[in-house]
Amino acid sequence: MAANKKLLVLPGDGIGPEVMRETRRVIEWMARRRSLAFEIEEGLVGGSAIEAEGAPISDATVARAKAADAVLFGSVGGPKWDGLPFEQRPELGILRLRKDLGLFANLRPAVVLDPLAEASSLKPDIVRGVDIMVVRESTGGVYFGEPRGVETLADGKRRGFDTDVYHEDEIARVARIAFDLARKRRNKVTSVEKANVMQSGRLWRAVVGEVHKAEYPDVQLENMYADNCAMQLCSRPAQFDVILGSNLFGDVLSDLAAALTGSLGMLPSATLGAVDPVTGKRHALYEPIHGSAPDIAGKGIANPCAQMLSFAMLLRWSFGFEDEAALVEQAVEKVLAGGLRTADIMQPGMARVGTSVMGEAVVRELDKLAG
Ligand code: IPM
Ligand code: MG
Repeated sequence: MAANKKLLVLPGDGIGPEVMRETRRVIEWMARRRSLAFEIEEGLVGGSAIEAEGAPISDATVARAKAADAVLFGSVGGPKWDGLPFEQRPELGILRLRKDLGLFANLRPAVVLDPLAEASSLKPDIVRGVDIMVVRESTGGVYFGEPRGVETLADGKRRGFDTDVYHEDEIARVARIAFDLARKRRNKVTSVEKANVMQSGRLWRAVVGEVHKAEYPDVQLENMYADNCAMQLCSRPAQFDVILGSNLFGDVLSDLAAALTGSLGMLPSATLGAVDPVTGKRHALYEPIHGSAPDIAGKGIANPCAQMLSFAMLLRWSFGFEDEAALVEQAVEKVLAGGLRTADIMQPGMARVGTSVMGEAVVRELDKLAG
């Protein structure tokens, strides 16, 4: 058999370490019951790395991430580090990983699980069955564009500026990811921009259209202004299959799509780099959408499902272990159908449990599913 699969685990800050602890049980289960031998290293990122290593991510950790087959990431940030200078904030940990590993395609599924349709803030009949994949460009745009800064003008007033910039190749490669995904789903891509006010948005629409025409004429393509998309997500979310957007619009719209599902605590994501033509491998990082949730950190009440489902995405996307990925997803759904809920998805009549009871229940369900 090939060498062990190398994982770099970066729990990060806030609830990250708590939900990662439960996910490690699922990883151990896979080793025990499915002989998936992972070689696991752990590292620091975010505020915890700032404190122990003096930077939101060290060069050594970035090097280990590059050497790994996949990175399983928790979350970064918290009020404790809010006062740090812009160049030292914990969020740079994840931003640097995306940039240095070339992780340009951020896949953010927003799926309304049937047992949770009631937990959405929208009416259950509007959200039931919603299954959206947001494909967010994640190494370009306003997140990295130059020039950027805050300058003081001659009259003493300050001026802040950022640059939203896209090269056509950056647009084309992420568009291909969206079209490829759509072909395996319901065959529709909604590409969002503000082509009515932004030059980079105009180019975005043009390039997506060219890639579509030349390579994916069989996929349905719809162009939509980002603000309209926000509105449509709230009123008729079931119309969407794949939503493709820039770094900034993808950031905003993926949070909105996530909120439809009733809980951020349930949603995983994958961020993928290009496939190396020689080795056939690609860098990839998997993280929950929810962030570090400092308000509930350390209380043992966070929902570990998004982190576990991120590991399921890792199994599928980095290693092609489709059966094992599906097992994790089914186990989570069974636990929910059985009535267990963490605080974030609590509903009347259900049993409220903490992080570790939820984690144990998923592992028990895996045992049952595997027979
Ligand atoms: C996300 C987060 C990050 C982003 C922050 C933590 C830098 O909001 O992953 O969506 O804006 O990309
Ligand atoms: Mg975000």
